[in-house]
Amino acid sequence: MNADPDQYGVVGHPVGHSRSPFIHGLFARQTQQNMVYRLYDVAPADFRIKVAEFFAAGGCGLNVTVPHKVAAAEFASELTPRAERAGAVNTLARQGDKVLGDNTDGAGLVRDLLTNLDVQVAGTRVLILGAGGASRGVIAPLLELAPSELVVANRTADKARDLVSLFSDLGNVRGCGFEDLPLRAFDLVINATSAGLGGGVPKVSEVVVGPATVCYDMSYGRADTPFVRWAWDRGCARAVQGWGMLVEQAAESFQLWRGVRPDTGPVLRVLESTAP
Ligand code: ATR
Repeated sequence: MNADPDQYGVVGHPVGHSRSPFIHGLFARQTQQNMVYRLYDVAPADFRIKVAEFFAAGGCGLNVTVPHKVAAAEFASELTPRAERAGAVNTLARQGDKVLGDNTDGAGLVRDLLTNLDVQVAGTRVLILGAGGASRGVIAPLLELAPSELVVANRTADKARDLVSLFSDLGNVRGCGFEDLPLRAFDLVINATSAGLGGGVPKVSEVVVGPATVCYDMSYGRADTPFVRWAWDRGCARAVQGWGMLVEQAAESFQLWRGVRPDTGPVLRVLESTAP
C-alpha cells in the first residue's frame, strides 16, 4: 500500500492565479515524488497561525508569495544566508522540529539568465527598475555575478537608495530615481516594478535601452507584457518575460524539499504554451 503523500503548498493573498501547483505537479510526476501541492489563501492577520498549523499537522514545505514574504522570514526558525540577505522568504521547509526559510527568487533569475537565455552578466552594466520585494530578492545574487555596475532605479528615489545601502558591501551598486538615471544604454534592464499589473510601464528615459540591450520582465503573461512591448518598441536586442524565473525558483524550492532537481525545460515549454 502507498504511504500518504507528503504535503506542500503555496501560501499567498490572493493566490488563486498562482501557477505553482501546476509547476510542482509536473515536477512531482517527472521525478516520481509522492506529494501533493495545494493553494492556501491566507490573509496577513492569519499568516502565523495558519502556517504553524500546517507544519504542526505534518506539512513538509510551503512556497510563500505576496504579501507574506517578510512575515515568512520572521516565522522561520532559521534562515539560509541568501534569505537573511534578502530579508524575505519564498520557501519554508520543515527540518525535524525546525522550519528553515530560504529565498530561491534570485537563484531562479540567475539560472534563467545564465543557463536558459545565455545572457552574460559579469562585467556588464545592469539596471533594475523598482525597489520593492521583487527587487530586494535579486540584488545580492546579481552582484555575485560581478557586473561592472548595478543601478537600482525607483519611482520613489529614497526607497532605492535605502535598499541598495543593504548591499553596498557586495559590489558596485547605487540607487536613484528614474529621472537621475545616466542617459546611456545598459546591457541588461530588469523590470521588478509592479507597474505592469495596471497595464503600465515605469516612466524611464528610453535612452536606457539600446540595440544591444537585453530587457527582462520579472512579470509574465500569455501575451507580451507592457514592459516587453515597450522594450521591443525601443529596438532592444531581446525582451523576455519572467516564465523562466518562475520555473527555476520553483525547481530550486523543489530540490530543497525533495533532494532531487527536476528538468525545467519541458515544464517551461508547457507553461508558456498554456498560460491563461
Ligand atoms: P512588492 O514589495 O510586493 O514588490 P511594492 O513594495 O509595492 O511591492 O513595490 C512595487 C514596486 O513597483 C515599487 O518599486 C514601486 O515603486 P514605488 O516604490 O515608487 O511605489 C513600483 N511601481 C509600482 N507601480 C509603478 C508604476 N506605475 N510606475 C513605476 N513604478 C511602479
